[in-house]
Amino acid sequence: MLAVVLVGGFGTRLRPLTLTKPKQMLPVGSVTMLQRVVDKLAAAGVTQVVLSLGYQPDAFIEEFPDGTCAGVSMHYAVEPEPLDTAGAIRFAAAHAGITERFFAINGDVLTDLDLAALWKAHDAFGGQATLALTPVEDPSRYGVVPIDQDGRVEAFIEKPAAGTAPSNWINAGTYVLEPAVLDRIPDGSRVSIERETFPAIVADRALFGMHSDAYWIDAGTPEAYLQAHLDLIDGVRGEPEASQSPLATVHADAVVTRSVLGPGVNIEAGARVVDSVVMRNSRVGAGAQISRSILGGGSSVGEAARLSDLTIVGFSQAVAAGTESVGQRFPSAENW
Ligand code: GDD
Ligand code: MG
Repeated sequence: MLAVVLVGGFGTRLRPLTLTKPKQMLPVGSVTMLQRVVDKLAAAGVTQVVLSLGYQPDAFIEEFPDGTCAGVSMHYAVEPEPLDTAGAIRFAAAHAGITERFFAINGDVLTDLDLAALWKAHDAFGGQATLALTPVEDPSRYGVVPIDQDGRVEAFIEKPAAGTAPSNWINAGTYVLEPAVLDRIPDGSRVSIERETFPAIVADRALFGMHSDAYWIDAGTPEAYLQAHLDLIDGVRGEPEASQSPLATVHADAVVTRSVLGPGVNIEAGARVVDSVVMRNSRVGAGAQISRSILGGGSSVGEAARLSDLTIVGFSQAVAAGTESVGQRFPSAENW
């Protein structure tokens, strides 16, 4: 089986972390987001992944020098310019010579969805495309997808205004597509699968959806990126993952609660780290307090600083001693 994985977005919502690394090359715990996505595809029997690349493609190519990841062979399709989701799938599929049914996946989705069941459902529906659908509380930041009792999609509404969504079931960013879908997408143009291609297939009554209650999160916002970490260490997805690398150092007078610490992290005396992510080789100075925040790798938080409410510190950034931050970003947006 083949899968096209979309990883070419700019990751703007996760800046400044994504100024120096594409979103899917950020760690989620001990491995990258992309590795988690590819592992899942491999477990479902996918043998070839086509990475649809745009922003900072070299970061991906360098990560897998022998062209394999989790035993899956990786094909790199680098867009000359951002083609948006449908344009990117069309470009990547043509680049890799795909002529058969395939998976297409948003590369920032972490899920325990049953991919084999989706493939089977697609076979049974007999349409041009089948989407996995997941329930969320606030559908307004997603593609909203009501289906009828036969699984046929009634409408595809990308990011509806708050309070107007006809359903809480949203596009989980995981599709089985027939090659016929590719023929609908004009070559080399910017086309959104959510705003153009799917609505056109709905009009032809050939789009289907499969509900799934499996664990699902789109890790593309700071809140969700943090939550994806907490879910892993809380054991929401099964056996909890280790929260602290054995190569992290926590001073005996420091307190670390429900947080992910990467290798080489140093938490100094009297510091407090709660519900946070501290990536590799970062330092939290003496007496600093970090809560619900994300520190990029190689960063340093000075003594007695207080960072809370989704403060994000970019890779290799230093935050001065005594800084107070409620949700600020370092560096701040005017320096991006
Ligand atoms: N190659 C390429 N080129 N990839 C792209 C481009 C592009 O121009 N634009 C976005 N991507 C990639 C992103 O890197 C990401 O992996 C995926 O496409 C989806 O883009 P996001 O920017 O993360 O979209 P979203 O989260 O706002 O919404 C999408 O995902 C939701 C579920 O996670 C939509 O598909 C929604 O309908 C869906 O509900
Ligand atoms: Mg996303």
